[in-house]
Amino acid sequence: MALSYLSGFANHQETEALPGALPKGRNSPQRCPYGLYAEQLSGTAFTAPRGDNRHAWLYRILPAAVHRSFQPLEHPLLASDFGHLATPPTQLRWDPLPFPAAPTDFVDGLVTFAGNGSPQGQSGCGIHLYAANRSMDQRVFYDADGELLVVPQEGRLRFATELGLIDAEPQEIVVIPRGVRFRVELPEGAGRGYVCENFGALYRLPDLGPIGSNGLAAPRDFLTPVAWFEDRSGPFELVAKFMGKLWSAEMDHSPLDVVAWHGNYAPYKYDLRRFNTIGSVSHDHPDPSIFLVLQSRSDTPGVDSVDFLIFPPRVLVAEDTFRPPWFHRNIASEFMGLIHGVYDAKAEGFRPGGASLHNCMSGHGPDAATFERAIQADLSQPDYIRDTMAFMFETRCVLHPTRHALESAQLQADYYRCWEGLRKHFDGRQP
Ligand SMILES: [Fe+2]
Repeated sequence: MALSYLSGFANHQETEALPGALPKGRNSPQRCPYGLYAEQLSGTAFTAPRGDNRHAWLYRILPAAVHRSFQPLEHPLLASDFGHLATPPTQLRWDPLPFPAAPTDFVDGLVTFAGNGSPQGQSGCGIHLYAANRSMDQRVFYDADGELLVVPQEGRLRFATELGLIDAEPQEIVVIPRGVRFRVELPEGAGRGYVCENFGALYRLPDLGPIGSNGLAAPRDFLTPVAWFEDRSGPFELVAKFMGKLWSAEMDHSPLDVVAWHGNYAPYKYDLRRFNTIGSVSHDHPDPSIFLVLQSRSDTPGVDSVDFLIFPPRVLVAEDTFRPPWFHRNIASEFMGLIHGVYDAKAEGFRPGGASLHNCMSGHGPDAATFERAIQADLSQPDYIRDTMAFMFETRCVLHPTRHALESAQLQADYYRCWEGLRKHFDGRQP
């Protein structure tokens, strides 16, 4: 089935799966068309400035309130309380998560690797990897703690959400707003990737400053699904993530029963291959903020709580310069993943599906092999960096790895040694 999408980032849009399902002229008429219930879903404070205000009106078969009471649901690898363990400043890197042997759906397959802040503080993020081999069927999930930025690395995903259907493949991302109910289906039988659970302000497109009105991610490339619903009875499980824990409630119908909606609070997807990458055409590598796709702003102007950046295919043409990312230490903390191909700052060891963490002020940069190659490179020729897609969740506050991440079999204990081969070139007699 070919899916339909509406185009534009956080536009006010309206869509109906049955003709005339959207009430005309008012949000909550005395009686809605088709006997639907009207329900508002607010993703920002009622009084948020117009430019930041995000909400949607849903017209549904039964209100979201109709379910039994929630009971605690154990999920030992999912965490939202960070910083109780000592956080090493050592550079860390992990191999990809193995696919599970037992039947495991998207929710069961989440493994928290790092995070900061808290859902209660409405700031910070949880960074999870997932590996799953079973579609959710009569199980639907929502996250009250944050919005979910999902980065598939292997295997397509279908998100059946309250507001419509989204198909996504690796090199696309999907953002599910806080509270929106959805299930994840695996059309290829298995899927693996990354999730940034953003506890803070909703992701938005960055301002472009001197870049001008074009460049980086374009609003028109963000796709929101058209209305879709199912009218299914039977036992359903509603799983909520609420204050760091999972909760489960029984329902006797599918909560994916929204026949029409309007507003600007809806899931969306974006194809990372559409990113308009900008770089130097003279000398020196720009700061990585030039690769910013989405930002979650903090209360301090210019300082984001979480940024999502990508390192896509590009052509390096700067002359008389060191072309790979330079050595650096930042106040920001950097969690990286690799969706596809090879990342240009590392010769080996950073595998698609793997991850790395360079925390606040921990030195890092190209490994020894990449450095030696870069200082010998013929800069009269462009470097074509093709067939790659790496990304970074960059945070204002330190990312605390979880106990599982620090004790995981996937942790590369000798990662720091990739810089040991850097030898001294210094000669005080040779300027
Ligand atoms: Fe870095």
